[in-house]
Amino acid sequence: MRLQGKTAIITGGAGGIGGAITRVFVRQGANVLFVDVDEERGAALERELGDATRFLNIDISESGAAETIRDAAVDAFGSVDILVNNAHASRQALLVDHTAEMFELSFNTGFYPTVHLMQACYEQLKASSGSVINFASGSGLEGMPTQTSYAAAKEAIRGMSRVAANEWAPDGIRVNIICPFAATEGVLAWQKAFPERAAESVAKVPLQRIGDPEIDIAPVVVFLASEDSKYMTGQTVMADGGIIKLR
Ligand SMILES: NC(=O)c1ccc[n+]([C@@H]2O[C@H](COP(=O)([O-])OP(=O)(O)OC[C@H]3O[C@@H](n4cnc5c(N)ncnc54)[C@H](O)[C@@H]3O)[C@@H](O)[C@H]2O)c1
Repeated sequence: MRLQGKTAIITGGAGGIGGAITRVFVRQGANVLFVDVDEERGAALERELGDATRFLNIDISESGAAETIRDAAVDAFGSVDILVNNAHASRQALLVDHTAEMFELSFNTGFYPTVHLMQACYEQLKASSGSVINFASGSGLEGMPTQTSYAAAKEAIRGMSRVAANEWAPDGIRVNIICPFAATEGVLAWQKAFPERAAESVAKVPLQRIGDPEIDIAPVVVFLASEDSKYMTGQTVMADGGIIKLR
């Protein structure tokens, strides 16, 4: 087991990719404090996975949420070794139609909670020589149409993560970024709203399929969280079937 005895915080850990990470982390021996706005789904997953999990029904965009989440993890399991900033909500519209509310939603659920949780967990991560995994997106790297506020927040997360990787390396904390591509409800809704664009995206995947959250994405997060990646920090890892090849 790659994460035996480690404590992880996972945002958006009840559904989609986050739900897969919660399951796979528990299978790898971790204790998981997972956070989600979806109360029903979170409670069901907590019942299913048992003592190794605690579910916190909280909106990460609320003021003070980061400290509440950190304290809940420490109270339940005694430390924070791994922080997975996965949750992110956004709306799509062409740049000319983008509103202040759209930018607020994307930055208040994506960028700021990622920063606030990293700040809140810094002492715990330092004590455990911990690992932070932040979620970005090929939409930001490629500038996908209709994704202005989402792409902006995702690229802000990548920039901030690289600074944190440099600042926190002497503390033994690693900070890496993953850009996934996987069939989740969020992606299915996007496929429904923009079928032509979605079909184009899948057609561009060299490995010729859309990823599975549990089989294709969660194991990469386990790798970034574990000692197996101990010589990696500040990296953007593409788990997208080969669409984007970073150099
Ligand atoms: N699925 C993909 O192909 C893909 C592609 C690129 C990037 N991403 C990124 O990967 C991550 C996971 O994506 P996903 O497709 O699983 O998303 P999703 O929308 O399917 O799931 C997100 C989860 O976060 C929760 N959540 C949303 N807002 C929240 C809030 N304010 N507070 C607490 N919980 C909240 C939701 O209830 C849900 O359980 C996101 O950061 C997303 O931007 C996904």
